[in-house]
Amino acid sequence: MELKEQILKILEENRGKSISGAWMARKLYVTRSAIWKQIKELQNEGYEIEAVPNRGYSLKPCNDILTAQSIIPYLKGKATGFILDVRKTVTSTNTIAKEMAANGAKEGTVIIATHQTEGRGRMGRTFYSPASTGIYMSLILRPKLSLEDSLLITTGAAVAVAKAIEELTHREVQIKWVNDLFMDGKKVCGILTEASLNVENGGLEYAVVGIGINVSTKDFPDDIKEVAGSIFTDKPKDQPVTSMLAAYVLNNLAETINNLTDKSYMEDYKKRSFLLGKNINVLKGDKILKAIALDIDDRARLIVEYPDSTKEALTSGEVSI
Ligand code: BTN
Repeated sequence: MELKEQILKILEENRGKSISGAWMARKLYVTRSAIWKQIKELQNEGYEIEAVPNRGYSLKPCNDILTAQSIIPYLKGKATGFILDVRKTVTSTNTIAKEMAANGAKEGTVIIATHQTEGRGRMGRTFYSPASTGIYMSLILRPKLSLEDSLLITTGAAVAVAKAIEELTHREVQIKWVNDLFMDGKKVCGILTEASLNVENGGLEYAVVGIGINVSTKDFPDDIKEVAGSIFTDKPKDQPVTSMLAAYVLNNLAETINNLTDKSYMEDYKKRSFLLGKNINVLKGDKILKAIALDIDDRARLIVEYPDSTKEALTSGEVSI
């Protein structure tokens, strides 16, 4: 670990408390001026570090820059075993994670970025990913699932993220089949799962589950501003909520991915689904069909009934109310 990261780790572990430069210098076997130089660099990068004369340096509670050091204190259980790779600006965390997975990266490797220049959504769309207002993360999985069951990954991830947001905000999150999370009628999170097939056994070689959360994003582009929203309009300043949320998501994902096939999370999914029982539009090619959303089955397929009473189990596609 570089000196700067080691200093950040100490400050994170003692967030809000003053740590003397002399103490850090002794602990890290460097001079006090080396510590001071790194602190200056961190401050220039935007870290809210206060220098208190005769007492030392302290990372302010409001500092909310995503780093591995800021997320780790909030990880628990199996998530402590995840391998975190936190970066500033990337093209797309999914693109990077797929490359890494194809090159043998371990299950549980997570790429997190604070900004994406080519964030991708479902159906070839882009995902708006401005700097420092959201969480853009991709988790590499090597699940023992068939391609048909890969929908379960997205569903499991949707429940994991919904619960994490609820834990942080104590507000209700709804899920629009299959992968969009809504709060107060606005989409605050999208999930894009991309999988690679093992041609020899027909199972999955790897899957990358990409999660984009608008934490405090404002000024959405015109084409999405009616539907997109953020978790916070005013982000709390007394806690590093972005780091906490990233950790809560990982904590829940670590639980869910082990239970993908027992489908125990399916009830939690259905409970939050806002399509069930409603009249919906199903987009099929360039046609829009009217239907009623009846159920979500244990393969996460949306069961719809058309006006002529025929039923269909949808595995993908676009539906709207
Ligand atoms: C959607 O709403 O259509 C899915 C959006 C998924 C966005 C996330 S952000 C992290 C990861 N990297 C990407 O390029 N996309 C996913």
